[in-house]
Amino acid sequence: MIIAIDGPAGSGKSSTAKAVAQKLGFQHIDTGAMYRVITLKALRQHVSFRDEAKMGSLTQNTKIEFDGFIPNVKVIMDGEDVSKEIRSDDVTKNVSDYCAIKIVRELLVEQQRNIAKGKNSVAEGRDMASVVFPDAELKIFMTANVETRAKRRQKDFEKLGVKKTIEELSAEIEARDKKDSSRKNSPLCKTEDSIEIDTSNLSFEEQTQKIIGLAKKKI
Ligand code: DC
Repeated sequence: MIIAIDGPAGSGKSSTAKAVAQKLGFQHIDTGAMYRVITLKALRQHVSFRDEAKMGSLTQNTKIEFDGFIPNVKVIMDGEDVSKEIRSDDVTKNVSDYCAIKIVRELLVEQQRNIAKGKNSVAEGRDMASVVFPDAELKIFMTANVETRAKRRQKDFEKLGVKKTIEELSAEIEARDKKDSSRKNSPLCKTEDSIEIDTSNLSFEEQTQKIIGLAKKKI
């Protein structure tokens, strides 16, 4: 069974997807982490997002692995633990440009389907329901208002020792939303068969239980 969870940054998608996967004993597929890995490698190697040919070979020559168990899954790039670095400000600011490249998406989508093959999965991203797993048994679209999302991001950044104001983060979130929703290749969108959950006024426990309840009805 596949549970597809899509939504914008800060909608609570990641933490909820992890908790749902853990409680149901499913694997968690963090597709955003995969786009972040490719972005990190491109930034390190000074490959521009405009250079599609180089980005194609860079993606093809990058091994992405998830190691360990929720909540301590490490993201491994070519044998190196990059779990922290892929969450850096630099990667976060640039990932929208790199994840919009057609060839990068094609190659990563193929990997995402392979990871899910034959396994119960909670797959989380922007195009899970629309492109990667159109036949998913349960499709969730998570949202939250910009202020709530900025507050959540502020907490994430605090853990990394980075201080940012709510205004600054709201502007960054809106800019990223705009790019992610208006890009040509697999934009962030809610499919007709997705169930929308607005998490602005929900506790973490409430949003997790809501999805688990929906999943149990399908099992
Ligand atoms: O969920 P996240 O913030 O880690 O995602 C990082 C970026 O990757 C985000 O800007 C959108 C993009 N992304 C995507 O385009 N498609 C996905 N399936 C997952 C993430």
